[in-house]
Amino acid sequence: MEHFPVINMDKLDGEERNATMEMINDACENWGFFELVNHGISHELMDTVERLTKEHYKKCMEQRFKEMVASKGLEAVQSEIDDLDWESTFFLRHLPVSNVSEVPDLEEDHRKALKEFAVGLEKLAEQLLDLLCENLGLEKGYLKKAFYGSKGPTFGTKVSNYPPCPKPELIKGLRAHTDAGGIILLFQDDQVSGLQLLKDGEWIGVPPMRHSIVINLGDQLEVITNGKYKSVMHRVIAQSDGNRMSIASFYNPGSDAVIYPAPALIEKEEEKKHVYPKFVFEDYMKLYAGVKFQAKEPRFEAMKAMENAATSLGQIATA
Ligand SMILES: [Fe+2]
Repeated sequence: MEHFPVINMDKLDGEERNATMEMINDACENWGFFELVNHGISHELMDTVERLTKEHYKKCMEQRFKEMVASKGLEAVQSEIDDLDWESTFFLRHLPVSNVSEVPDLEEDHRKALKEFAVGLEKLAEQLLDLLCENLGLEKGYLKKAFYGSKGPTFGTKVSNYPPCPKPELIKGLRAHTDAGGIILLFQDDQVSGLQLLKDGEWIGVPPMRHSIVINLGDQLEVITNGKYKSVMHRVIAQSDGNRMSIASFYNPGSDAVIYPAPALIEKEEEKKHVYPKFVFEDYMKLYAGVKFQAKEPRFEAMKAMENAATSLGQIATA
């Protein structure tokens, strides 16, 4: 089996730069995922975020999760559950305006650590977007600009725990999906595995690695790159022992950003006829909310139909 791509970002500054850029390109084309080490975010900060997040789960989330499990009778299910996930979550927003100060039940030092971590991740996301531009032959800043809209990108974090699950074969930690947005940066548990991606029809585990950041690409990057890069299906299998922590941050387009394939990446005349759609990011997210756990292709088709309808309406209006 091929090895899951691990990128050492230190090597971007030395004589192995070209080989490292090629590894990133290969990961974007063939995996939709890669894992970063030496990404520039302090290990001490990551340890603090991890410790406080685990303490917060024990103190504020665990009891609530157990009550949910008991109220739905999930311990004793006999057949596959396909309408919920075995996860305990809360959300943070960083951009365009942070809500970290208002999220209930967080200790002050936890808020501070999460905010500082988000600043590092935002920087890393923008650095990665420019590395992708370089590999794609797009001008520096193209992807950042494509995500900008009128108020800048949307950046948020989903903090999750996947508690030990008595029936992991019947209830997924998180059902299979592709991510809707731009680029996703994940700080995953270094002990408890469970994240898997679909490659060539097989589920492959994303190996836990201390202090690494796992990157994956969302549907918007597939559209902008005209399918050169792909968003890839992934899921979480809860473990029967061990609680998995997962802190996923989503660097996404602004709600009014207009997303479409980069003209420089539409190489052939015939591709123009069946290229990916052009749409406002917010409209995509409205659609995604109801069909997250379904294939992405019908989403792209629905957006294309919306684009075509708008175009013909436009023609009527100006006729
Ligand atoms: Fe995801």
